[in-house]
Amino acid sequence: MSDYQNDLILKTIKGEKTERYPVWLMRQAGRILPEYRAVRSSLSGFKELVETPERAAEVTVQPVDILGVDAAIIFSDILVIPEAMGLPYQMIEKKGPWFENTINSMEDLAKVSDQIDVADRLAYVPEAIKLTKKELNGRVPLIGFCGAPWTIFCYMTEGEGSKTFSKAKRLLFQDPAMSHKLLDMITNVTIKYLKLQIEAGADIVQIFDSWSGILSPTEYAEFGMKYVSRICDAINEVPVTVFAKGAYYAREDLASLKCQTIGIDWNMDIEESRRLIGEDKTLQGNLDPCVLFADFSTIESKTKNMLNSFGNQRHIANLGHGVYPDTDPEKVKCFIETVKGFAKN
Ligand code: CP3
Repeated sequence: MSDYQNDLILKTIKGEKTERYPVWLMRQAGRILPEYRAVRSSLSGFKELVETPERAAEVTVQPVDILGVDAAIIFSDILVIPEAMGLPYQMIEKKGPWFENTINSMEDLAKVSDQIDVADRLAYVPEAIKLTKKELNGRVPLIGFCGAPWTIFCYMTEGEGSKTFSKAKRLLFQDPAMSHKLLDMITNVTIKYLKLQIEAGADIVQIFDSWSGILSPTEYAEFGMKYVSRICDAINEVPVTVFAKGAYYAREDLASLKCQTIGIDWNMDIEESRRLIGEDKTLQGNLDPCVLFADFSTIESKTKNMLNSFGNQRHIANLGHGVYPDTDPEKVKCFIETVKGFAKN
């Protein structure tokens, strides 16, 4: 007996047979829904929303009510970790995250700590998870998440978004000892943070490695995968999903992680990914989010093409990265309905 009215995603992760593929969208909470923007504009900004559990829970449940997805993802941000470690951030309208202080040397490491009471500093996250679980009332499972250590390192050293993250990358070569020390600290806090989310009720956790694609295979093995692997080894309570965007070169290595699901982006061919990763993991993805700017019939046919490539049962339908903010929610619904109407054979 399942605790959920809809447990398609959990069954799929375990490799059990289901009648149809589960579907949800990365960045479904926030961004696209007018209902989200209404909540957001009643507050001072993004951070207040993240830090107000009642409102965070409300926008987490919106996509379940309005779009009909098979899982909720808790409304928060990966950047709560640097902040808890001692580097506060601001979310600047139309620009993105900005950090007043950054880490660029061994001496700078004194600005941050991994010896922190995570449950106290990030208390608003488990609180939001508990409220969300109450509101979901067993309808669908809830996904918790974190940034992968390398991706968090990018923001802590660069201090803002970037196309190349060249300040972050150069540190790996200039000061590998400091880089490893910071990655180790981020990993320690992240493991505690994920356990906190799981204790509060997260049914699955996803690790977002948004910037793995800018490293070479050698650097990713040393500075990226190593720490993702430590997180996977430490989390045994619930299934773990690893989404290493752009790490097409690391798919065989990703297969050896102690995680149940691997996210793939739209650059990665589904059938090739299945061959490289093997049959023992669930794959999640990978429609190009820009397909949702096409007309309805194109969205339908491209979604069906994706589903036809899945080949076996162990797939979760999703986009290959987050849904773009200016996507029409009706187009998102078309994607979701196409998946729901597609019978597995
Ligand atoms: O998936 C969800 O809907 C849950 C909520 C969620 C947010 N951020 C809310 C958010 C999740 C899972 C994230 C993850 C996140 N945050 C990542 C990894 C995923 C990815 O897209 O690669 C990264 C790199 C960040 C850091 C971040 N947060 C950036 C670069 C920005 C600005 C640009 C953007 O993505 O909108 C944010 C802001 C942010 N995080 C918003 C939301 C809804 C938009 C802020 C707003 O409403 O003003």
